[in-house]
Amino acid sequence: MKIWKSRLYKGCHVPKDKTHLEKAEWDEKDALQVIAQFTVLKGGLMEALHGLQHDFGYVPPESYDLLADEFNLSRAEVYGVKSFYHDFRSEPAGHHVIQICQAESCQARGSRALTAHAQEMLGIKLGETSQDGHFTLEAVYCLGNCAVSPNITLDGRLHGRVSADRFEQLIKKVSS
Ligand code: FES
Repeated sequence: MKIWKSRLYKGCHVPKDKTHLEKAEWDEKDALQVIAQFTVLKGGLMEALHGLQHDFGYVPPESYDLLADEFNLSRAEVYGVKSFYHDFRSEPAGHHVIQICQAESCQARGSRALTAHAQEMLGIKLGETSQDGHFTLEAVYCLGNCAVSPNITLDGRLHGRVSADRFEQLIKKVSS
């Protein structure tokens, strides 16, 4: 299950072989092309932020002023929305992105212990990317799959009832 997939977003100027950790070079024209697709839509700012992250690998700070101008908002308002949602990154992610649910149901079923295990295994904390650029570990707050907690996503794919052993298996599978 992909957590976000815009039905509206059409473009991507990042070459297919570009690794996640490489920042796409800032290009105002490209950014404006992304933003322009959403300026007339209700909730267009969110779509534009997703589109920018899709193309650049993160939301470049250079885009805040453009977004503010195009959506008739202040820069602070744009930054407020961007920083409120954990999905929007300030840096490109690693090759594999792991999100561990920290919301109530998952916590009740062991997500804290699972998080501690993941941090120890990968040598990074939540919100960090490993030095080799292989893994990014992130917190997420309810994946809508509470019945089979604890839940994680690995590269956008949802996995339920994830034990420490299952987590290791999943990591080994993408590492090989
Ligand atoms: S609380 Fe984790 S999926 Fe809902």
